[in-house]
Amino acid sequence: MTGTSVSNTSEALEHVAIIMDGNGRWANSRGLIRSEGHRQGATNLREVVEAFANEGVSFITLYAFSMENWQRPPKEVQNLFDLLVESVAKNIEGLHRDGVRIQHIGNMVDLPCEVREAIRHAEEVTQNNHQVTLSVAFNYGGRAEIIEAVKKIIKDSIPFSDITEKIIEDRLYTTGLPDPDLIIRTAGEKRLSNFLIWQSAYSEYYFTDVLWPDFGEADVRKAIREYKSRRRKFGTLES
Ligand code: IPE
Ligand code: IPE
Ligand code: MG
Repeated sequence: MTGTSVSNTSEALEHVAIIMDGNGRWANSRGLIRSEGHRQGATNLREVVEAFANEGVSFITLYAFSMENWQRPPKEVQNLFDLLVESVAKNIEGLHRDGVRIQHIGNMVDLPCEVREAIRHAEEVTQNNHQVTLSVAFNYGGRAEIIEAVKKIIKDSIPFSDITEKIIEDRLYTTGLPDPDLIIRTAGEKRLSNFLIWQSAYSEYYFTDVLWPDFGEADVRKAIREYKSRRRKFGTLES
């Protein structure tokens, strides 16, 4: 063995963020309407969260609705809102029992009342849990998040000479969360689609062709195995 301290250790995995893509294609490939794909995509959430938690992951962030997704037909947008409300009703008890704390990241004000209520309820019920933090990115946009942070900095009258990464991070939706170690995207696309663009500066990426409704425990293990084989360097010469 040659050398330096990190060469033989596998990478720690604290925070996994997932771009849950491919619901529409899952439905299309079965001759079903898109809403059936979204419905199916909501059913494996518990299994995936549990699988990551069992592997020692403490922070899980799910991209469920982007700000750009408003551009879909109003019926589909409404369907996604209804599903969020249903998903909270269906999963909240089990997640609470498992010690999962739920928090929303994204823009709340533009969401309809029933969605805001469901999110608030989920956050309130689970606020004292510490096992896992499940962040749900719903009506989330990375650029909007940075714009919001800039506005807060100006409102707080922070002089330009005091601006640091921390000053910005303290004003992002994700304040308090560690940066994602691993970002998973299902369904074959290889892009961020405005997800965690600040926070992903040094994340590892895992892309899979598996469509989100088919993504399960075995895929979780595969992604973790792949991540553990990576060597993160953060600009240093460690390898
Ligand atoms: C992901 O599935 C869910 C959301 C973006 C809300 P898609 O609906 O994007 O599925 P595809 O990409 O059309 O297959
Ligand atoms: C990204 O998926 C958003 C979510 C998974 C919620 P999209 O399907 O909206 O992304 P694009 O349009 O393919 O980039
Ligand atoms: Mg998509």
